[in-house]
Amino acid sequence: MKILFWLPQADASTWLHGLARALPGAELREWQPGDNAAADYAVVWRPPRELLSARPGLRAIFNLGAGVDAILALEREQPGTLPRDALLVRLEDSGMADQMCEYVQHAVLRYLRRFDDYALAQARGEWHVLAPHPRETFTVGVLGLGVLGAQVARSVAALGVPVRGFSRSARHLDGIATWSGPLHGEQFYAFLDGVKLLVNLLPATPDTENILDARVFARLERGAYVVNVARGTHLAEQDLLDALADGTLAAATLDVFREEPLPPDHLFWRETRITITPHSSALTLRDEAISQIADKIEALARGETVSGVVHIERGY
Ligand code: NAP
Ligand code: GLV
Repeated sequence: MKILFWLPQADASTWLHGLARALPGAELREWQPGDNAAADYAVVWRPPRELLSARPGLRAIFNLGAGVDAILALEREQPGTLPRDALLVRLEDSGMADQMCEYVQHAVLRYLRRFDDYALAQARGEWHVLAPHPRETFTVGVLGLGVLGAQVARSVAALGVPVRGFSRSARHLDGIATWSGPLHGEQFYAFLDGVKLLVNLLPATPDTENILDARVFARLERGAYVVNVARGTHLAEQDLLDALADGTLAAATLDVFREEPLPPDHLFWRETRITITPHSSALTLRDEAISQIADKIEALARGETVSGVVHIERGY
């Protein structure tokens, strides 16, 4: 079997060696511009269009991450980019959920105990004891209850704060209040009412673009917190700055941005109420990702079905 590989980062050769060890019978090659030769599978992250288009015979594209928005954007811009019969398969957890849980738990505890306010007080040389937020009303809302969102919701509930979640279709999670339906529908607003800290773990699709906007911020508890760990396109940036300026929101933690790296002159760098991390809340772990993908390639080669197949029209 022939496998094409594309990962625009420095340790790509280590990944190739790992894949070769996991799939000893496979013929692996790193894609180079102009390579239009046949392949059975592609293992890629943010591939150039030429890698995917005009590649008849491709059986499946494995995305080296959970979010497939970059690949689906190529298809939306130029329909037919994705080979017609190829499955698009994304990573399912593969070590990302634990990292995401740690990241979100940290943000919840930091805001609950007001460590963000203590850091600002320290910068001013001020010694004040601040009352922590009451735990029982520090309601955390998780937008998106998929592979990552469901585990994040459970891990935050273990901190003893009330947790609720929202998804497109109905989900049941023990101990977590759930709502479902269309974004900006009645159920969505019922979910938002009373939320003190909103975590976004939706996929980036045309439906979810700018979902973190003034309308949503206004429905949260006054002085709420926003944690965006999904994609930068979910956030209406000026709405966030306005909401921080007028007290609608108290602070935000952002791991993802419309432009990455975040440009040095971006206003977010200068807003002390915004905490920035460089798209590092849940990294793709090499060994876990290779093992999951190799197992799925072997299953497909045996004619079996696999999980994690993206529904192209739905966008995730
Ligand atoms: P997933 O399993 O596909 O879950 C997506 C969830 O969002 C599902 O619960 C889905 O509802 C819900 N959803 C989708 N569209 C919706 C809509 N229009 N309205 C309401 N709910 C909607 O995805 P995942 O593996 O948890 O990953 C989520 C996202 O996290 C990825 O797409 C990626 O962008 C991001 N991510 C970021 C990092 C990072 O380092 N920052 C790392 C990994 C992933 P249903 O349950 O009804 O389908
Ligand atoms: C990272 O952002 C991912 O989608 O896995």
